[in-house]
Amino acid sequence: MLQGKKVAIIGAGNVGATICYWLAMRKSCREIVMIDLVEGVAIGKALDISQATSPEGSHTLISASSDYKNILNSDIVVITAGSPRKPGMSRDDLLLINANITRSIVEQIQIYAPKAILITVSNPLDAITYVALKCGNYPRNRVIGMAGILDSSRMETFISDKLGFGYGQVTASVMGGHGDDMVPLPRYSSVNGVALTDLMTPLEIEDIIEKTRHGGAQIVGYMGTSAYYAPANSTVKMIEAILSDSRAIFPCATLLEGEYGYRDTVNGVPVVLGSNGIEKIVELPLNLQEQQQFAKSVESVNTLLDVLHQQNYFKGKK
Ligand code: LAC
Repeated sequence: MLQGKKVAIIGAGNVGATICYWLAMRKSCREIVMIDLVEGVAIGKALDISQATSPEGSHTLISASSDYKNILNSDIVVITAGSPRKPGMSRDDLLLINANITRSIVEQIQIYAPKAILITVSNPLDAITYVALKCGNYPRNRVIGMAGILDSSRMETFISDKLGFGYGQVTASVMGGHGDDMVPLPRYSSVNGVALTDLMTPLEIEDIIEKTRHGGAQIVGYMGTSAYYAPANSTVKMIEAILSDSRAIFPCATLLEGEYGYRDTVNGVPVVLGSNGIEKIVELPLNLQEQQQFAKSVESVNTLLDVLHQQNYFKGKK
């Protein structure tokens, strides 16, 4: 239990409510508030989750409202609000709808929780992280996109499923944007220290990479809506690292300012998370193929950012 820590979650949909539940059960913070326009449902979920706390011995206070004034003094604000993916829809189709939603949310956060660290979860993730950063004129350490942990944990699951062993012992690494051009890194993946490249053939690894790239869409295909258990779990990992100042390394979406040769764009890279948000960006030595894949991922995100720039979306912003 981290005394006094408050987390606000914007959007009490599947992802938002699951983050709330998971934080409460793990006693990761003192207070959680969920903000949602559909206030009744959000209040119902908050009551339901808080009624699960007592058997767990959790002291976490949980509430919900449609009024942003309730996020006052939050240490972290998680933005999950946005239109979810429908079958056949790419994350990019959501760009303008969710950019507008994010911009209006950031305006409210600046009024009521100006010191909070922001974690963005809505899609298209990298572009939405850029929107939050620019619309709020935030320093880059304070706005962090959730995706790399999710994509890595999907890759880890596909690896242990394929091997038939090493469950819970796989460490996989996925860089790049949260889209079809993400960059799974088999060279940086291992099973309890044994290199993945020593355990699988190149063809098997290629299959894992493809599965990882389409892991989100696979679930949308089955459920008709986006995943939420694994996305919520990944978000909770980030929140706990920040609140506890753990200085753990995670792949997250961040604004690049020269790292890996790119600037003024958001992409997924390994970062160190601590009480200031992003404490450090880690630059991995990529081989030529990995560099090319990363370049393609940066290009995909930049195509979206170009759409926003062409519309003067950030007019008046630095
Ligand atoms: C996914 C959505 C959340 O990857 O982007 O499941």
